[in-house]
Amino acid sequence: MTDHVKIARDGAVVTATLARPDKKNALTGAMYDVLRETLEQADADASVGAVLLAGEGGAFTAGNDIADFLAGGARPALRFVRTIAACKKPVVAVVEGVAVGVGTTLLFHCDLVYAAPSAMFKMPFIDLALVPEAAATYTVPARFGLAKANEMLLLGEAIDAQEAHRLGLVNAVVDAPALRSHALEKARRLAAKPRAALAASRRMIRGDGETIMARIDEEALAFEAALRSDEARAAFMAFMSKGKA
Ligand code: COA
Repeated sequence: MTDHVKIARDGAVVTATLARPDKKNALTGAMYDVLRETLEQADADASVGAVLLAGEGGAFTAGNDIADFLAGGARPALRFVRTIAACKKPVVAVVEGVAVGVGTTLLFHCDLVYAAPSAMFKMPFIDLALVPEAAATYTVPARFGLAKANEMLLLGEAIDAQEAHRLGLVNAVVDAPALRSHALEKARRLAAKPRAALAASRRMIRGDGETIMARIDEEALAFEAALRSDEARAAFMAFMSKGKA
């Protein structure tokens, strides 16, 4: 268990808030486990109609916690991304500030994403001598086109909220004070829809789940091998010693 994810219930909407603001909500294995269990429970609980994901302290998440990753490996992250990719309930995300690594790749599995003007999306996997995860090698080119996907995935370039909106990752850019309630209202509206029709529609809109799951697993094999490489360890050590990878 961890206190770094806060779970709240608002009618038919379950909210999971990343609450480790001193570390920009970087995700530890324990935090991944809570997020995964929350999604699994939402799927299993007929009274839950939608899930809202958010971050505290002006950040969404800085991605995998680098120290925790070195110590504990990538398995909790993999279990989480497999779960969100297959989640039967709609997922709405609220992004303020940094959304780095999995903080961006997980958004491609959400149904609706709302961002504050401060949002910044970045996938610097290669700079850390890693490979993209969460099927990003599939979802990012599919959503953004190859040119933009290569800038983000190969060069590791960031985009801001407006560009993410223009590219179709973000539904709307909403000023921070109103952001959470705006997203919650959308989640409530999804939760109030006829469930079976919504679930069947989501399945078809999201497309071929088998391809996405196979890509998640293929990336995970490459990711785990990369994680053990000297290059990745050196990049992680540089970040931890504040050379910032
Ligand atoms: N893992 C572990 N700790 C992290 C982290 C991560 N992914 N991201 C940030 N932190 C920690 C920092 O070490 C710092 O801790 P400290 O105050 O104890 O020194 C704290 O969170 C604040 O981060 P800081 O870098 O000072 O904030 P910033 O606003 O200057 O930059 C980021 C924010 C997210 C751009 C920057 O922290 C960063 O690049 N993090 C790494 C992100 C990353 O590569 N994620 C993918 C991992 S696969």
